[in-house]
Order: sequence, then C-alpha cells, then structure tokens
Amino acid sequence: MQVLDGKIASQSVKEQLRQEVSQLMAEGKRAPHLAAILVGSNGASETYVANKVKSCAEIGFESTLVRLEETVSEEALLNTIQNLNNDAGIDGILVQLPLPKHISEQKVIETIHPDKDVDGFHPNSVGKLVQGLETFVPATPYGIMLMLEHFNISTKGKHAVVIGRSNIVGRPMSVLLSSNHAYGNCTVTICHSHTANLKEICLQGDIIVAALGRPEFVKADMVKPGAVIIDVGITRVNDATAKKGYRIKGDVAYNEVATVAGAITPVPGGVGLMTIAGLMKNTLVAYKRRIS
Ligand code: GUN
Repeated sequence: MQVLDGKIASQSVKEQLRQEVSQLMAEGKRAPHLAAILVGSNGASETYVANKVKSCAEIGFESTLVRLEETVSEEALLNTIQNLNNDAGIDGILVQLPLPKHISEQKVIETIHPDKDVDGFHPNSVGKLVQGLETFVPATPYGIMLMLEHFNISTKGKHAVVIGRSNIVGRPMSVLLSSNHAYGNCTVTICHSHTANLKEICLQGDIIVAALGRPEFVKADMVKPGAVIIDVGITRVNDATAKKGYRIKGDVAYNEVATVAGAITPVPGGVGLMTIAGLMKNTLVAYKRRIS
C-alpha cells in the first residue's frame, strides 16, 4: 500500500515554480501577483486563504489579501473584483467560497475576468475544459492530476468513480479523468446523492475520488482491493480531546480503507496541499500570458 503524500508532491511542484520565478527575477521581470478576496471570517476559509498567501511568499509571488466584512453588499464585492480586473499589476484573482447567502456566487464568478480566473470557475474556463482546450483548471482537480503525475499512477483504460458532482471538484474531475491526455483516458462514473447502488459502483472503481464532504463515508467494504483512493474531504469534526477542539476528517475511513487500497491520500497532508500547488501553477500561467 502506497501513501500518496501531498507534502512531497506539492513541494516538488512548488520548488519548480520557485526556480522559474527566480529565473524571471534574474531577467529583471516583475513577480507574478495573486489577489485573494476573503469575505467574512469563516474559520476554514481563513485557513485556506492564509495557506495560499503563505505559498505565494514561499515561491516568490506577490499576493494581496482583500478582506471584506460579512455584511458587504454584492455590488461592493463586484466593484472590488472589477478594480482588480482593471489593475495591470494583478495576474490572478480568487474569491474564497463559500460566500454569505445574500451574495450570488455565480455573479461573482462571472465578474472575474477570464484571463485572471486562476480558480477556473468562470463559465468560459469550464467550457474550454469540457472542450479539451487549454484553460485554467480548477485547483483541486488540477492538484489531483499533478499528484497522479508525481506518483506516476497509470489511469489509461481504468474505471474511475468520482463521488460528488460539485462545480469545484467532482464535475471538473470527471472531465479531466475522461479526457485524452497522459493522466486521463479513464472510463468515468459520477456518483451523487441520487445514485442507486453506490457501493456496487464503488467496488468497480480502479480509482475512487471521494469529494462529497461527508466524513469517513467511504468504507473498506466499498473498495476493490488495490484501488487508488483520492480523498478530497476536509470536514472539521468537533473533538474535545483535540488541541483546537476539532479534527480534520476526510471522506474516506482511512485506517480501514488503507488495509484494502493499493494507494491512498492522507487527510490532512494529501489533496489539500495539491490544491494550492494547482492554484500557484495557474497563477504563473496567467502571469506569463499577460507579460508576453
Ligand atoms: N472553496 C473551497 N475550495 C475552493 C477553491 O478551490 N477556490 C475558492 N476560491 N474557494 C474554495
């Protein structure tokens, strides 16, 4: 059984990026610049955004964190995005999701200029992804592809079962795994809350991507021996014995599934780190397109 260590894989990607940025600096170019917008103070979102900003610094990117009150109006948020769209010094823009209920996530996503859409959530980016055109791939599915590549996991002709159909992970993941490229060419089944006989389908999976957001949902009796298990879940579960009062749980019951699987990503220390690596790669691409 192989542990797919996100720390090792993400550090390898980030080191390549760091070297590339250092070369650009040596040529007298400006640094790539990512702008992140955080609305309110959701604990998990705070952590994710802080990690994104920290990774920028490690690689040599500039970053700007724009913090807005939970009560900010939709109009004010859209104006902030427009200003960043028009700012020649900004290469990539991300608005951390979820947003407060009074703000339309769709409007926010569609306001980010497609050239700066490093999260890959704009319909323009999604359409290109589905058509197999070069575009910004959402960071988590992109990070998972980078992880498969790092550990040289063959996917061609395999049956991949994706659990979850979100726009952020499940749906783009299913497109990537079924696409015709080095770490695609899978036969893909997408499962969701209305799927009948989920267990039987999972048991057919050579690869399972669990992205439904239900802690320890995938159990050992749902997994084919030797399968590759990619756990996208990161749910905070209250635990009075933990230092912070909660523990992070994946969508996979790690200890029992690890006894059956051929390879598995840990949580934490797996896909989450790769998400940041994917975002950083997208930001460098956005930058290169803009300075060329
Ligand atoms: N919320 C959960 N995942 C993501 C992500 O990849 N990007 C943004 N912007 N928000 C998220």
